[in-house]
Amino acid sequence: MEASYSKFNRVCQILEENNYDKSKLIPILQAVQNEYRYLPEEILVFLASSLNISPARVYGVATFFAHFTLKPKGKHIIKVCDGTACHVKKSTGLIDAIKQKLGLKENEHTTKDMLFTLETVSCLGACGLAPVLLMDENVHGQMTPDKIVKVIDEVIKNEEKS
Ligand code: FES
Repeated sequence: MEASYSKFNRVCQILEENNYDKSKLIPILQAVQNEYRYLPEEILVFLASSLNISPARVYGVATFFAHFTLKPKGKHIIKVCDGTACHVKKSTGLIDAIKQKLGLKENEHTTKDMLFTLETVSCLGACGLAPVLLMDENVHGQMTPDKIVKVIDEVIKNEEKS
């Protein structure tokens, strides 16, 4: 109950920072996503009533932009490029290695402990480094299955320290 209250408390702060201005719906959604790493359904409904707009409009904006997600994501996002250059250099082998390392089944993208989410993207604009992936904001080029397993281990080690 307390957690749920503080959840809305933070959303109220975001709304106040944006003066409850419905024309600022996109920055508001952005701030909410930054806070929770996704857009929880109950918050979208809350935003709609707080901004005095229809839930359909809020959902429409939240689903129109690929950047927004309505599903919870892990703390660390691994984006594997599967554009042409990376695909040719066996990006699928990286994806398989990551799934195996993280214990992700066929249609799973996020680990149960919510530590990692695996996504595929098309061309990160670094084709010369193919195959390329992003671990959060860090670019890793010329990746191999062994190297990505080490990168993941490093992230897990840092998490254990913190
Ligand atoms: S295809 Fe992967 S960076 Fe361009």
